[in-house]
Amino acid sequence: MRLNSLPTLALLLLALSAPQAYAKTCNVAIEGDDAMMFNQSEIKIAAACTQVKLTLKHTGQFPAAAMGHNWVLAKTADFQALATAGSKAGIANSYVPKGDARAIAFTKVVGGGESTSITFATSKLKKGGDYTFFCSFPGHSSMMKGKLIFG
Ligand code: CU
Repeated sequence: MRLNSLPTLALLLLALSAPQAYAKTCNVAIEGDDAMMFNQSEIKIAAACTQVKLTLKHTGQFPAAAMGHNWVLAKTADFQALATAGSKAGIANSYVPKGDARAIAFTKVVGGGESTSITFATSKLKKGGDYTFFCSFPGHSSMMKGKLIFG
C-alpha cells in the first residue's frame, strides 16, 4: 500500500504544482461606503501572484449616480492627471478616459449594495513600483485613494 501510494502522491503533487507555475490568481477585496471612504489604504500583492482578482463592494445605500465608486490603478506619477481626466469621462466610461494607458486596471462604477470584480495580470506591474489606487468618481479621489505594493 505504501509503495503503491508513492507514485500516486508524486503525480498528485505534480498536478497541483504545475498550473501554479504558470498562473496564480490572488484575491483582493475592498469596500467603499456612503461616507466616501475605502476600507483600506494599502493593498499588498505578493510577488508570486501572476493575476489579481479584485472585488469592489459598495457597502452603502446611495445610488451610483450620487455616490458611485470604482477602483482605478495607476502609477502614482499618473494618479492626479488621470483622476482629473477620469472625473470628466462620464459614468458610461466608468470615469476613465477611453483607451487611457495610464489606467493599469479599473472597475466599473457601482452604487450601494452592488459589487464588481476585475482580473488583471501583474505583468503590468514592476516589483517595488509606486502605485496608487483610487476612485475616479468626480470629487472622490482626494479621499478615496491608497497605495498598492507589489512584490
Ligand atoms: Cu467613489
